[in-house]
Amino acid sequence: MVSTRPSADELLELALRVAREAAGTARRMRTEGVSAVATKSTVTDVVTAADRAVERQVVAALREARPADSVLGEEYGTAVGTVAGPGSVRWILDPIDGTVNYLYGLPQYAVSLAAEVDGEVVAGVVINAATGDEWTATRGGGAWRDGRRLAGSTETDLGQALVGTGFGYDPARRSHQANVLAGLIAHVRDIRRFGAAALDLCLAAEGRVDAYYEKGLNAWDHAAGGLVATEAGLRVAGLDGAPAGLDLVIAAPPALFEPLHERLAKLDAAGGP
Ligand code: IPD
Repeated sequence: MVSTRPSADELLELALRVAREAAGTARRMRTEGVSAVATKSTVTDVVTAADRAVERQVVAALREARPADSVLGEEYGTAVGTVAGPGSVRWILDPIDGTVNYLYGLPQYAVSLAAEVDGEVVAGVVINAATGDEWTATRGGGAWRDGRRLAGSTETDLGQALVGTGFGYDPARRSHQANVLAGLIAHVRDIRRFGAAALDLCLAAEGRVDAYYEKGLNAWDHAAGGLVATEAGLRVAGLDGAPAGLDLVIAAPPALFEPLHERLAKLDAAGGP
């Protein structure tokens, strides 16, 4: 079936409406108490009733507005749409990024929703559901927060850079990530680990951390935040020219990207389990 290519702006408008409603549900369910906590990949990788409820709500809202689109969500996987050819849209959703923060009541958890057209992310929104802070971007249209256009950090010295990162749930992977961190920490100002990758990428887009890297992120963790960071002028990529993905995501202003990339390559940041 042939479809008309939707504009990034119209996809963003829908994403924003749906993500705001979703953030409201996450916040409300948090005040009612976290329930139905189950584990996924490891005993520390949790999913709550809210993760599932928010994902179902977002998928239903997207289905109603754009029934032919596909959706990739963290909790339920892929719901395939009816349009696969040119102009096809796939939504990429993390209903609650920062689920462990959500569990502990730490105000750093987000709804992350991106729209891909023909395999390219063109619109993204990240909302910190605890605070209501919103970051948006469209490809070529810049990254924004509260009407303010974002540009990343102007820091040029890796030794002065505050660097965000995160850890996976698998113990073997976490050990490797800790070794990488141990090799990096003496060469940067300091490290931050906030616990929600989508928000980390938005903080890098704002220059509230100078750069960010993490191994093991799935598309739902970095699709929206990665576009926000890119549109704020950051380089978002993996090692040695690879695109940002499961092996590694580095997001840094151009002046910091190379020195950070070099350090991370030496430390085999994309390697290990
Ligand atoms: C996790 C968070 C965390 C990151 C992990 C992600 P989740 O996502 O973004 O900061 O370090 O790699 O899996 O499980 O809270 O949706």
